[in-house]
Amino acid sequence: MKTIDSLGDLAGKKVLVRSDLNVPLDGTTITDDGRVRASVPTIERLLAAGASVIVTAHLGRPKGEPEAKYSLAPAAARLAELLGKPVTLAEDLVGPSAKAVTDALEPGQVAMLENVRFDARETSKVDEERQALAAELAAFADVFVSDGFGVVHRKQASVYDVAQILPAAAGLLVQNEVESLSKAVTDPARPYAVVLGGSKVSDKLGVIANLLTKADRLLIGGGMVFTFLAAQGHGVGKSLLEEDQIDTVKGYLETAKANGVEIVLPTDIVAATAFAADADHIVVAADAIPEDRLGLDIGPDSAALFASKLADAKTIVWNGPMGVFEMEAFAAGTKAVAQAMIDSDGFSVVGGGDSAAAVRLLGFDEAGFGHISTGGGASLELLEGKVLPGLAVLED
Ligand code: 3PG
Repeated sequence: MKTIDSLGDLAGKKVLVRSDLNVPLDGTTITDDGRVRASVPTIERLLAAGASVIVTAHLGRPKGEPEAKYSLAPAAARLAELLGKPVTLAEDLVGPSAKAVTDALEPGQVAMLENVRFDARETSKVDEERQALAAELAAFADVFVSDGFGVVHRKQASVYDVAQILPAAAGLLVQNEVESLSKAVTDPARPYAVVLGGSKVSDKLGVIANLLTKADRLLIGGGMVFTFLAAQGHGVGKSLLEEDQIDTVKGYLETAKANGVEIVLPTDIVAATAFAADADHIVVAADAIPEDRLGLDIGPDSAALFASKLADAKTIVWNGPMGVFEMEAFAAGTKAVAQAMIDSDGFSVVGGGDSAAAVRLLGFDEAGFGHISTGGGASLELLEGKVLPGLAVLED
């Protein structure tokens, strides 16, 4: 993979940097700034080399036209705080404001273009449309640095096509993510344990199928657990259930057995009367969830069981919370997994998205983990063993 060094002397050059600044917002307040912080080292490195930086990024999934609630303004403000210098946010992406802002940029200065998904061509399936937008973005800069690890699985104009127009290289974040995740995915030290959570099995089908040939242990929590329990013939009350996936999950259980992969399911569940922070809740056996309750976390016995299955693992990958961790009453399972990873001597990877946010929101020290990915879908696709277009395009 091409790195920043391959771009040569950057003094006086304008560098277009694709970052992933897709942060969770409460109104205009960023609730987890992990991705903004992760974008800083590459930008600082480029500035130190005498370049100026034009950041392009997306926020949310606007429908190809400007929408105030998806403005990058909060991310630009936070980036400016972290860099300790102004970040001028253009009012548009490739329009007159972007042109004026990028024309005026001096070495050592940083500008940001408005949400790249305000232009429908960014995510177009038509190559020529994406390429046209990529050419307009490329016109602002001399070189391109791809640093938005969270989007390298997307074949989009600012990720994939622009890298074919300008001299391109991976930024420090992309480099670091790929190195860390590859260490886990390609040749994991064993025992190799993977903890999967999150709400839906259907989001993780490819990953589970691939892991059934690679991992030694697969620990399942979160909402998806109820489809596994149903596949074993248990009632799940009002819990989240994907009935159309029950047969697929039955197949997984058989493949796991045939391949000698241990699937670890919760033995107890925190079952509530409603999906609410203050809902009445009790701990029940996983095979005895009352009909009028829904499971919102794994129970304390399961948390201890999961911790014991992680204790001797040499590689641990975790993707997806064990319960509704945003609500204190249903956070214990997720906390237990995070703590078990910290306590482990093995190489531990938190695979992005909600689990990375959970680690920070629950107050764990990020330094206790081997690697915390900024990519949700991107890290899952790497775990699936897929070729990611935004990485393939950076190969030498
Ligand atoms: C993410 O949040 O995982 C990335 O920013 C990618 O966002 P997307 O799924 O909307 O492409």
